[in-house]
Amino acid sequence: MKHSFLSFLIFLFIIYYVSTKFINTAPIINETTKICLVTGASSGIGEQLSKCMIKKGWKVIGIARNFEKLQDIQKEVGSNNFITYKCNISDFEQIKKVSQEIKTNNLKPTLFFLNAGTGDIEAKNKISVESHKKTFDTNYFGTIGFVQEWIDSLKELGGGTFVATSSVLFFYALPETAAYSASKAAINMCFQSLRLKYIDENIGFVIALPGPVDTPMLKNGQNLPFKQTAKKCAQYMVDQTFNRSNQIEPAWFYSAILRLLNWIPDRWVLKVVK
Ligand SMILES: NC(=O)c1ccc[n+]([C@@H]2O[C@H](COP(=O)([O-])OP(=O)(O)OC[C@H]3O[C@@H](n4cnc5c(N)ncnc54)[C@H](OP(=O)(O)O)[C@@H]3O)[C@@H](O)[C@H]2O)c1
Repeated sequence: MKHSFLSFLIFLFIIYYVSTKFINTAPIINETTKICLVTGASSGIGEQLSKCMIKKGWKVIGIARNFEKLQDIQKEVGSNNFITYKCNISDFEQIKKVSQEIKTNNLKPTLFFLNAGTGDIEAKNKISVESHKKTFDTNYFGTIGFVQEWIDSLKELGGGTFVATSSVLFFYALPETAAYSASKAAINMCFQSLRLKYIDENIGFVIALPGPVDTPMLKNGQNLPFKQTAKKCAQYMVDQTFNRSNQIEPAWFYSAILRLLNWIPDRWVLKVVK
């Protein structure tokens, strides 16, 4: 009995391993131009993604609102490696304009880290349509806007990859994170659908689900255990992207715990998270 249960677990693990490594993989990264675009490159995970990609020998197009911060990073890593563009991604007109400028400058990215995001802990006992709209404008429409503007270019270049930075809160939405968790779940489902739609065009749609990462965004979660540094999270995201993962989970502990919460009665969950 004990042996057959163990064999069953090993069998499940083999199925999982084979399906993630060999069957359910993203397309090979298109390295023809070695140019990638990173949104939210002025801080945290995006800054570190940019640095990792530069280390790999890629040119990075860094996008954010805070142009001074982008320029500081440019001074550090070199203007040949890091090309900066100012854009508020919650405004689709600005995404269209900046994409056009990049195309006019003959830059042809094949890998996109659509990483910029926003999310505040919501006020207790209050639901605000305004704050949901603001969160979706950046986290959802600010991501899909770049997909719309660049998908034809990727088709012409023979393929490419979009990586969206989602969150482990996709697995379980904790109190006071409704807008943020909903926006991340929306981008997950959108990318899952696009992945199937563009499978024959060699265009990958990858989702990264970090746990708590020590960046300015985590100002209210400083006491959380097993926080990752932005550098470690970004390195894992880059490595897994090149390993052709469709779903990247840099924080296995939080991924497992939040998945598990779905099996626990709501009142117990509240006791645990408080
Ligand atoms: N930190 C965590 O614990 C954690 C966990 C899971 C997922 N994430 C996700 O990781 C991503 C990066 O966050 P982070 O932790 O690195 O936080 P961060 O250090 O605060 O960086 C956020 C980045 O997004 C950019 N951004 C925000 N709104 C923007 C807008 N409207 N237009 C253009 N750029 C905008 C910011 O640049 P400007 O202010 O210069 O525009 C900044 O570069 C986000 O999508 C976040 O949801 C973070």
